[in-house]
Amino acid sequence: MDNDQLLRELTEFLRIPSISTLSAHDRDCRRAAEWVAAELRRLGCTDVQLLASETHPVVWGVGPVVPGAPTLVIYGHYDVQPPDPLDEWTTPPFEPTVRDGRLYARGSADDKGQVFCLLKAIQAGGAPRVNFRFLIEGEEEHGSKVLFDLLEREPHRVQADAVLVADMAYFAPGWPAVYSALRGLCYAEISVRTSKTDLHSGEYGGAAPNAHEELCRLLGRLKGPDGKINIPGLYQAVKAPTKAERTAWRRLPFKEKAFLDKQVQAKALAGMKKYSVLERLWALPTFEIHGIMGGFTGPGAKTVIPAQATAKVSLRLVPNQKMKTVEKQLRAAVKKLAPRYVDATVTFLHGADPAEMKLSDPVFQKLDRAFKEVVGRAPVAARAGGSIPIVPALASAGAPVVMTGIGLPDDRLHAPNEKLDLKQLWDGIRVFRRFYELLGD
Ligand code: BES
Ligand code: MN
Ligand code: MN
Repeated sequence: MDNDQLLRELTEFLRIPSISTLSAHDRDCRRAAEWVAAELRRLGCTDVQLLASETHPVVWGVGPVVPGAPTLVIYGHYDVQPPDPLDEWTTPPFEPTVRDGRLYARGSADDKGQVFCLLKAIQAGGAPRVNFRFLIEGEEEHGSKVLFDLLEREPHRVQADAVLVADMAYFAPGWPAVYSALRGLCYAEISVRTSKTDLHSGEYGGAAPNAHEELCRLLGRLKGPDGKINIPGLYQAVKAPTKAERTAWRRLPFKEKAFLDKQVQAKALAGMKKYSVLERLWALPTFEIHGIMGGFTGPGAKTVIPAQATAKVSLRLVPNQKMKTVEKQLRAAVKKLAPRYVDATVTFLHGADPAEMKLSDPVFQKLDRAFKEVVGRAPVAARAGGSIPIVPALASAGAPVVMTGIGLPDDRLHAPNEKLDLKQLWDGIRVFRRFYELLGD
């Protein structure tokens, strides 16, 4: 295969602004789905369908039948996150551009570039002895509802010998990774109301309650300055990593200072100091405030006491927490921590249970071998801080879910100047090619 040709094809895919959370882009999501479907037909899939939604369909495909060969479900997503803030992009997010061997575009690493890699690996030689099934969805970044509903109705679609998910990164350059856990998510809005309407801050200030002040105090109570989350019961279900995991994590090429200076780019790290940074990222729940709305935020000054304020927050969840339980715990904590004279409400937007995967199935040895042969090192066992809501459902028919990826930690997912290193892509095509061959052996 000719790399220039591949790059042209991937560029075409990345040009489609398939932003699933903005309904103005519904048609673009549909176009991206059709692009994937055409690609599956080129791969010789007999049955290609757009399922379960007009605007964000799941692309389903069944590869050529190979009697007696194992079945592999390939999962990925063609939707992307909104690209803002636009003025921070060196080149526009939907005009893919190569600089210094890196392809800059929204979706280059998350996840269109990786979907492309898995598909092109099938083409890179004779047909592998594998029965391929494809589930490429269009609303991963929006909670995966369409695919959840589809798999609930038709669970047989994930009956397979293995499921392959490439939507993650290497642990570090030169260090491929395979993931044994993903964090879950519980996304919510916390609103407080302190009076019927806004009030003049001169006439009433000093005597009337202030919604922003109450919200800030409430948020401050929900997580202390030591990083501990004050939601009763939250830590109860948290499964501590095993001794073997802790030892393995200490041996990973992770330097706290480089993480702070190169990736976080802040003055200090936060969180519970008694846990290692990897443990904070992989094995503990989080509570983050994403934004606060309400009151006066326009230019100039307005002397007003806001009656209402809302914070968007989320918790990342770890094995063995359950999203539904955490929802109840958050609601109860807000009720308990808000003063009586404040009306506090919690609305849940979306979420996911955490996922855990034993790496003992023989399929993982094949992945080890493929990476070792192609890039010289077998993947290290890691966990992911991020979430892929559908993973527990992908595992529900008993197939091992192989979670890996070709990204690098500095790909800037969801942020301006997202990129994919082209070497990672070319290597990745050879790695997955070899993986498919080993599966078929
Ligand atoms: N590919 C990411 C998840 C990810 C990121 C896994 C980094 C491992 C390392 C995925 O596309 C994603 O962004 N998921 C969202 C899910 C949410 C919107 C329901 C996330 O984690 O915020
Ligand atoms: Mn992704
Ligand atoms: Mn994402």
